[in-house]
Amino acid sequence: MAKIVVTGGLGYIGSHTVVELINAGYEPVIVDDLSNSKAQILDQLSKIIGFKPAFYQFDLCDEQKLKEFTEKEPDIDGIIHFAAFKAVGESVQKPLKYYRNNLQSLVNLLSVYSGKAINFVFSSSCTVYGQPDVLPVTENAPVKPAQSPYGNTKQIAEEILKDAIVSGDAKKVIALRYFNPVGAHETALIGELPIGVPQNLVPFITQTAIGKRNKITVFGDDYNTRDGSCVRDYIHVVDLAKAHVAALKLMEGPGFTGYDVFNLGTGNGNTVLEIITAFENTTGVKLNYEIGPRRNGDVEQVWGDVTKSSKELNWKAGLGIDIMMASAWAWEQYLSQNPL
Ligand code: NAD
Ligand code: WQD
Repeated sequence: MAKIVVTGGLGYIGSHTVVELINAGYEPVIVDDLSNSKAQILDQLSKIIGFKPAFYQFDLCDEQKLKEFTEKEPDIDGIIHFAAFKAVGESVQKPLKYYRNNLQSLVNLLSVYSGKAINFVFSSSCTVYGQPDVLPVTENAPVKPAQSPYGNTKQIAEEILKDAIVSGDAKKVIALRYFNPVGAHETALIGELPIGVPQNLVPFITQTAIGKRNKITVFGDDYNTRDGSCVRDYIHVVDLAKAHVAALKLMEGPGFTGYDVFNLGTGNGNTVLEIITAFENTTGVKLNYEIGPRRNGDVEQVWGDVTKSSKELNWKAGLGIDIMMASAWAWEQYLSQNPL
């Protein structure tokens, strides 16, 4: 059974990927420092998969701890590197915190595994495209100057990975550019755990619906879109998780060498107001919302061209907006009954 290190494996996307790795016959080994997750997620995972996956708690920026880890787990076939800080606004206030964590952790991983035949999957983001000139945006679109230190860490990380392939430090790398992951596992036992006030749309919607927040503000209705609110490509987190398995499979096959990058989206865009309506229609819960000013740094519209992912990764998103909303809501309700 191939052993895959999942950094950030107790986080939102990582925990869902651990489940899909097990479903596909892999053996995940989780590394997480719990800086943005909770140890209880390990118990939640064991309720889904029937056993507790291997878990090591340490900060990947600590190279000594990482070396000790490689001695305890010497036979690794792949790494899926989720661990990073991801709050765009905070990254503007505390850029060094983001550069250190997101880049040091990557450099440390590449150093300790340098030259080894390990398949490496990296969590990148559609944020590298900024506001694309052509929609849907393909992987060949130019990377635009980053709008935030967070976005910059993703662009720089992609460059670091390409350089590591050239130098031979890394052997096979796939960077996955996620669009907007939402929703939760069908068991409602794992999902997104925002710490503090959510910055992202769907957790804000579910927390408003459950009564944790008074109202949700739609950040602008004067954009040049079909209803004036921003357009994004929302993708179910379980679809996203499955794409990581597809990426490993592609690298395990004979035809893959070096570095490649794939969009992970549905190929469709939805406006903020459409998401609010979908949530209300799917759950039957009315949302208290108001239209507010634009949020600084938001792009008007972005959605992904997923032709390359479907052809070469052999992967396609299958879950629609209704399941995204229903599962996010089931998770919020679960959390209100079973606080973690
Ligand atoms: P998350 O915060 O839920 O998960 C990240 C996990 O990594 C957390 O459990 C955290 O405790 C851990 N972690 C962070 N720094 C660490 C370190 N130095 N050492 C060990 N563990 C560390 O985030 P997520 O939403 O699951 O995102 C996963 C990845 O996907 C991140 O790289 C993020 O930038 C990227 N991404 C996320 C989104 C999104 O909207 N959620 C979109 C595009 C890309
Ligand atoms: C979605 C839409 C908001 C909250 C961010 C990062 C990006 C990526 C995913 C990691 C936007 C609107 C939101 C609210 C609103 N992360 N909104 N009211 O901004 O597309 O992307 O997360 O790589 O890098 O920038 O996601 O969920 O914050 O917003 O109207 O209370 O919802 O304006 O149009 P975004 P989001």
